[in-house]
Amino acid sequence: MSDKVKVTIDGITVEVEPGTSILNAARQIGGDIVPPAMCYYSKLEGSGGKCRTCLVKVSKGSEKDPRPMPKLLASCRTTVMDGMEVQNITSPEVLEARKGVVEILLINHPLDCPVCDQAGECHLQDLSYEHGVGKTRYEFERRTFDKIDIGDKIQLHMTRCILCYRCVYTADQLTNKREHGILGRGDASEISTYIEKAIDNDFSGNVIDVCPVGALTDKTFRFKNRVWFTKPVDAHRDCPTCSGKVTLWFKGEEVLRVTARKDQYGEVEEFICNTCRYDKKKTSDWVIEGPRHISNKSVISSNHYETLKPLPVIKPNLALQAANKEEFERAIKN
Ligand code: SF4
Ligand code: FES
Repeated sequence: MSDKVKVTIDGITVEVEPGTSILNAARQIGGDIVPPAMCYYSKLEGSGGKCRTCLVKVSKGSEKDPRPMPKLLASCRTTVMDGMEVQNITSPEVLEARKGVVEILLINHPLDCPVCDQAGECHLQDLSYEHGVGKTRYEFERRTFDKIDIGDKIQLHMTRCILCYRCVYTADQLTNKREHGILGRGDASEISTYIEKAIDNDFSGNVIDVCPVGALTDKTFRFKNRVWFTKPVDAHRDCPTCSGKVTLWFKGEEVLRVTARKDQYGEVEEFICNTCRYDKKKTSDWVIEGPRHISNKSVISSNHYETLKPLPVIKPNLALQAANKEEFERAIKN
């Protein structure tokens, strides 16, 4: 007999290990029914429960107790029960609530995407496009902060921070000595390095990769390029500190930045060390594996990094393909 539990999300049933969260059960199904997550990060213990973007409706509690849950729940923090039925995109109530969550996240967050380095790979930008509304009801002054240097390679722009705590967990769990945390409560909360004390650790650069917005950015890449003009390429090196598996972001022949590889949920596959991130910016430092397949929804996946994906109208039509031969070849060569 299987000791797995059965859960149905938006009409699709899946069997998962007991103790799995609704969010992770949805990820096992994949596709549109996966709730968005701005604070949960599968690689960071204790993450989740902060942002409420992953809210879902539990329309049937379990086989034993089929009563629906009275309120919407954070799917990253709710464990599945056998026979549970969950609604995400099939529930108008969830979609309405998510709109409200986006509005709250944007209360203080500036709409400075045109000058923000995170544009094109910002989870809040994607979330706002999918679930946000065109205007805000907030009339008060937004809170603003001066930019702070966290060491010589990372810049904190607290004004953009959504207090997801991911960087705090990263600093806590990946580095030996915690030098970074959240001070204050409510609207006085802020990320602090205890009065701008530099994070000095081999893995500190990972706080940049886990930040879902442009609050923590790589100073060696800032304002060098828009991310959608660069080409991501997987590469590795024999690194004594980390796995050495990275993504290089090229502009022409130049490596503009080095990041960890991210999965379809924008989560780092393996954390990388600062030497790989900041000090190895020559192509000759790396063994190139090939184009990085960007599978999350961001604008950067819409470029032709791999081979041209012919438009559906062209694909079945040989005459159209022949007429577009030149463009096909150009795109494939790039
Ligand atoms: S700086 Fe970024 S990762 Fe850290 S809490 Fe703020 S939004 Fe989250
Ligand atoms: S992802 Fe669940 S509360 Fe943030």
